[in-house]
Amino acid sequence: METRSSRARKGIVLAGGKGTRLYPLTMAGSKQLLPVYDKPMIYYPLSLLMLAGMREILIISDPVELPRYRELLGDGARFGVSFSYEEQKAPRGLAEALILGRDFLAGSPSCLVLGDNFLYGHDLARFLAEAALEKEGATIFGYRVANPREYGVLELDANGAVTGLEEKPAYPRSNFAVPGLYFYDEQAPELAAGIQASARGELEITDLNRAYMKQGRLKARLLSRGTAWLDMGSFDGLLEAATFVRTIQQRQGLKIACLEEIAFLKKWITQGELEGSLVKMGRNDYSDYLEHLISGRE
Ligand code: DAU
Repeated sequence: METRSSRARKGIVLAGGKGTRLYPLTMAGSKQLLPVYDKPMIYYPLSLLMLAGMREILIISDPVELPRYRELLGDGARFGVSFSYEEQKAPRGLAEALILGRDFLAGSPSCLVLGDNFLYGHDLARFLAEAALEKEGATIFGYRVANPREYGVLELDANGAVTGLEEKPAYPRSNFAVPGLYFYDEQAPELAAGIQASARGELEITDLNRAYMKQGRLKARLLSRGTAWLDMGSFDGLLEAATFVRTIQQRQGLKIACLEEIAFLKKWITQGELEGSLVKMGRNDYSDYLEHLISGRE
């Protein structure tokens, strides 16, 4: 019989929220569908889950926007993965994603990524794949930022163990912010269900992480300074991410977060399936890139 810990880790992308920080851009549409240079925003966090090896992924958004995600991403077959969809009726907090995802997870470990988080850097795929192999507890990340007050903030002892975790503290105890990417064992839905709403009325992800911390089962891994973590949830952040993507892509001739490419390189889709995507897309720069992927192999 399959044991709990042998189950494959599943991914969750949380792509709801009010998006008021980006009004009027998001008055008539979801933030995580906005363009970030040559792809919809959600491609970037999705690429992280795929790079970490996850093939079963749940997309959560509000009832009005969810059909648009289905239209964009479908069942996932063209990316060699399987997408499921779930509504979040109101933005009741990030930790609610684990409660909404309970049936989807069905006892599997998970990785939650926020739909507006952008991470890119040397060796990141290997780093994430390593975190995905952890069998027990939760793994979160620390990233040095100049303005920690805007984020969840880590406190670490001299050995790198987590000794404190605070959400948007007025007096941060370190410069290490926690990016919106969290690896959990199979207990996360149950622990999330036990969380009380915060003063702002939300089930805070920081409280879920603290629950793991209190049990001595929370690990934090620091992302190296060669990594880019960008928050695409502000006007400046959106433009900065787009410029970053354009700069790297034009310099290297390689795309960031091209989901078809990730699937193809991982052998999750065949050349024939990639060609099928290409035909459906028609001629444009993106499909030219996919075509080069194929011709480069011939
Ligand atoms: O970006 C990392 C930070 O994300 C962490 O450091 C913080 O600990 C964490 O609380 C979160 O802080 P934010 O203030 O950025 O969270 P925000 O409420 O803006 O929500 C993040 C994204 O999740 C946003 O794109 C909207 C979406 N969202 C948010 C809520 C509250 C949902 O889809 N559903 C929700 O219920």
